[in-house]
Amino acid sequence: MRIDPHSYTDDRHAHVRSLAWEARVDFATSTLHATATLQFDAPSAGPLDLDTRGLDVATVTDDRGRTVAFVVHPVDAILGSRLALVLGEGTRAVIIAYRTAADASALQWLDPAQTAGGAHPYLFSQCQAIHARSVVPLQDTPQRRITFTAALTVPTALRGLMAAAFDGREERGDVAVERWHMPQPIAPYLFAFAVGELASRELGARSRVWAEPSVVDGAAWEFAEVDGMLAAGESLFGPYAWDRFDILVMPPSFPYGGMENPRLTFVTPTLLAGDRSQVRVIAHELAHAWSGNLVTNAHAEHFWLNEGWTRYAELRMVEVLEGPDTAALVAAICRKDLDETIARFIAEGHGGLTRLHTHLEGIDPDEAFSVVPYDKGELFLRTIEGAVGRERFDGFARRYLETFRFGAVTTEGFLEFTERELPGVLASIDAPRWIDGEGLPGNAPVAHAARLDAVIALGAALPAADTNLSTTEWNLWLERLARPQPAAFCEALDERFGFTSTGNIEVKVAWLRLALASAYDAVLPEVVRVLGAVGRMKYVVPLYSALLARPETRNLAREAFASNAAGYHPIARAVVRGRIERASAVTE
Ligand code: BES
Ligand code: ZN
Repeated sequence: MRIDPHSYTDDRHAHVRSLAWEARVDFATSTLHATATLQFDAPSAGPLDLDTRGLDVATVTDDRGRTVAFVVHPVDAILGSRLALVLGEGTRAVIIAYRTAADASALQWLDPAQTAGGAHPYLFSQCQAIHARSVVPLQDTPQRRITFTAALTVPTALRGLMAAAFDGREERGDVAVERWHMPQPIAPYLFAFAVGELASRELGARSRVWAEPSVVDGAAWEFAEVDGMLAAGESLFGPYAWDRFDILVMPPSFPYGGMENPRLTFVTPTLLAGDRSQVRVIAHELAHAWSGNLVTNAHAEHFWLNEGWTRYAELRMVEVLEGPDTAALVAAICRKDLDETIARFIAEGHGGLTRLHTHLEGIDPDEAFSVVPYDKGELFLRTIEGAVGRERFDGFARRYLETFRFGAVTTEGFLEFTERELPGVLASIDAPRWIDGEGLPGNAPVAHAARLDAVIALGAALPAADTNLSTTEWNLWLERLARPQPAAFCEALDERFGFTSTGNIEVKVAWLRLALASAYDAVLPEVVRVLGAVGRMKYVVPLYSALLARPETRNLAREAFASNAAGYHPIARAVVRGRIERASAVTE
């Protein structure tokens, strides 16, 4: 039987336990020439279904040198192609020789012009949710963890990095072979690497930051507080299990704020605001070292167990590092975003996506992605915390991590565990309404803090010229303003605070969204510039959506996409294309 709606993994088949991966990085053709040796947990025989997407499989042999029969099945738009093998008796491993597609969905191949340095190409992977299969043939479900070894052959001028322990580099003329191993078993979505012109700076005993040389000093300053975060994480959730916590600053097209690849978190360069205002993203990715990388969701329908727990942990870390007032401000922003997302989903007939436990058969997890699993999940956990008190909740959280360590959990598994540990609590908070109900239950807690009240007290009038708010406060104030606002108000606001030209992209995008929703078209050139300069979906998707929402700016969205699409990561490209197609279907 299949065990994950987004994988061909079948629980009657052999169980892949480890991977030995060798790949030659070919920038000329945007291809990886690779072999994957998949080792089973026991000698196996019979059918084995693997996940692939766009892989060109040349040969499959087994550990005894026998040829293994295989069929690459026709492409399913969401799942990719099932690679069906038939194993001979007593097979311990299969060796698959293959090439990746030039448009592999996990990979972005950047021209030198798309990097900060401008001299060398760059390659990176982003495997969550179901893109690992476009890089390695695997049982691509979080329920099949693997350890691995890897050898990457890269041009000598470049260096490779992997979310794994580094074993060394050997130069052979114009190429170099670099090796890694990953001793802790990981879910396939955490398989990650990058190749480029990269330099590093030490941050602390367990961490360093990597980036292109021109960016690395700024990055070292921005993330200097990472040791304190590790300490905060360990004090809350127990020892850090992954030895190192390094950070890699990606090129601007990285589609996410951060990605919790074990030992090497990938982050967008938009975090380099020069004021440490976005280190919360680092706290979030670090929190995944416990919630997610140690205990993950069984599949995408239980994604709230991954991101909901992590948002909860992130806010607890913010509370330790910056105090309860800042944590409450952040919670208020999250709540605003959650309320809007829920309202939009319900208005668009996607109420099902506002449940914690979703039903995603036939739905691409990238399409279903939203803040609901993050923030509704966080509020559900906080409701449990409110019912039992923080001390009991903290013990519960620690035992949860201990019990499911290096495992994958379903919503049912979580509920059973909770009932055992905290009998009666689920009934007392009407958990079924949270899990299977749409929208947000009435007993969701509301954040309170003096600074939050102060931002709310500013109201909707033009703030005094000497108003000095933090990134989080400006963001919240801008988000709370009704829209549309009169053009005169937008003009006065921008003149006074210079939002269009601020270097802080978090504030800038909140402002641009307000301006677009207010048809204040003076910002259009800056919107177009941002769409060409960054690929982080949190910024580009809402900006495209705002342009598409008005007939007058719809063409501008199409034009901007036409000129920028090639520079976006394949995942971002697909998501934006989806929005544009839907907007066109509504109007034409
Ligand atoms: N794991 C996610 C990013 C992700 C989710 C990638 C789903 C692919 C599919 C990461 O931990 C995350 O949530 N990043 C956020 C940052 C944050 C502070 C909430 C982001 O990218 O904005
Ligand atoms: Zn996350």
